[in-house]
Amino acid sequence: MLLLFLIFLLHTTSLVTSSSDLRPGFYSNTCPEAEYIVQDVMKKALFREPRSVASVMRFQFHDCFVNGCDASMLLDDTPDMLGEKLALSNINSLRSFEVVDEIKEALEKKCPGVVSCADIIIMASRDAVALTGGPNWEVRLGRLDSLTASQEDSDNIMPSPRANATALIDLFQKCNLTVKDLVALSGSHSIGQGRCFSVMFRLYNQSGSGKPDPALDPSYREQLNKLCPLDVDQNVTVNLDSTPLVFDNQYFKDLVAGRGFLNSDETLFTFPKTRGLVRFYSTHQSQFFEAFAEGMLKMGDLQSGRPGEVRRNCRMVNARRAHLLPDSQQEMENKDEIHACI
Ligand code: HEM
Ligand SMILES: *[C@@H]1O[C@H](CO)[C@@H](O)[C@H](O)[C@H]1NC(C)=O
Ligand SMILES: *[C@@H]1O[C@H](CO)[C@@H](O)[C@H](O)[C@H]1NC(C)=O
Ligand SMILES: *[C@@H]1O[C@H](CO)[C@@H](O)[C@H](O)[C@H]1NC(C)=O
Ligand SMILES: *[C@@H]1O[C@H](CO)[C@@H](O)[C@H](O)[C@H]1NC(C)=O
Repeated sequence: MLLLFLIFLLHTTSLVTSSSDLRPGFYSNTCPEAEYIVQDVMKKALFREPRSVASVMRFQFHDCFVNGCDASMLLDDTPDMLGEKLALSNINSLRSFEVVDEIKEALEKKCPGVVSCADIIIMASRDAVALTGGPNWEVRLGRLDSLTASQEDSDNIMPSPRANATALIDLFQKCNLTVKDLVALSGSHSIGQGRCFSVMFRLYNQSGSGKPDPALDPSYREQLNKLCPLDVDQNVTVNLDSTPLVFDNQYFKDLVAGRGFLNSDETLFTFPKTRGLVRFYSTHQSQFFEAFAEGMLKMGDLQSGRPGEVRRNCRMVNARRAHLLPDSQQEMENKDEIHACI
């Protein structure tokens, strides 16, 4: 009887079906300082380690593409669940989780149990861009955090750095994002770094040819050969564009010059369907900024339709649920799930 009552309580309080109506100012009554608190921690992170804000901004992509923006990629593995942190595109690569922890801690102090980790990612990504010289925009909020994560879904969805523009266009289309969104959002690589691991094939064996990618500018290739020689520790990192601390359109200028770091970047210039936009953004920064903000808003709207909660700690689901809900109950709740981007 007590158990039933508790389940009833959980259903009526913390367990809510994901709402599809995200809106600006969602926390204006329940946590009016939320956006300010997030920005404050992001400023500190930028000061402490400039790259960390790029690393946090990347979370929005890796979260939203895999079953919607639900902070699933922040969940640590458990004995029953292989999370997304060790998925192919994330292992030894996603970083700066501690910045999100710090934001969450600050928010829990001010308004416990109110602001979701999924919304933190959205706010922090916007701040990362604005704080490094990029556009600013008003975010829609009100997401819930997932109750689970899927390494398999992440493996199946997230693109490889080897991907060509055709494959990327297809992937983005599955997430309701256009060719314009793809090119603009790839401009996120205006900040941050990638590992030698992500470029070795391009330097030494593009498409199994035994040769480097012919699209590489020869002097840039020489530079990369020095930074990432064949016997390098492949965790060594390299700038994604020539101004990695500034969010600007230099990334597109670099692509036009054959100086894009990732194959998935340079392919946007070598393929006809995306080349025009790359060229355009390389000379029109404000149009790039506008398209980028629009793309981030669209990507931020991806949702799974699954039930969720506001996690107290972004790394784990709220503990009491797991103990109280029998397995069959969990299955019922997840019955009509929608897979975003598949
Ligand atoms: C279009 C398909 C994309 C591909 C194939 C891709 C792939 C990659 C790869 C391979 C890296 C380097 C990882 C490493 O070597 O450890 C990287 C870094 C990064 N990506 Fe993407 N990415 C894509 C789109 C995006 C989008 C849409 C965003 C955000 C809106 C984003 C944000 C970032 C950022 C900020 C970094 C640097 C992170 C850091 O310095 O820690 N990427 N991406
Ligand atoms: C692009 O990549 C896809 C998937 O990897 C591959 O099937 C296709 O042949 C590639 N297209 C071109 C033109 O290289
Ligand atoms: C290049 O890749 C191809 C196909 O994956 C492989 O058969 C070949 O051994 C590689 N060559 C070198 C030099 O690594
Ligand atoms: C990078 O570092 C991690 C952790 O130290 C290690 O497990 C991994 O093998 C390294 N990856 C590469 C590609 O060298
Ligand atoms: C894309 O849009 C269609 C039509 O509005 C919708 O049914 C579908 O769920 C959307 N897909 C994603 C991944 O959001």
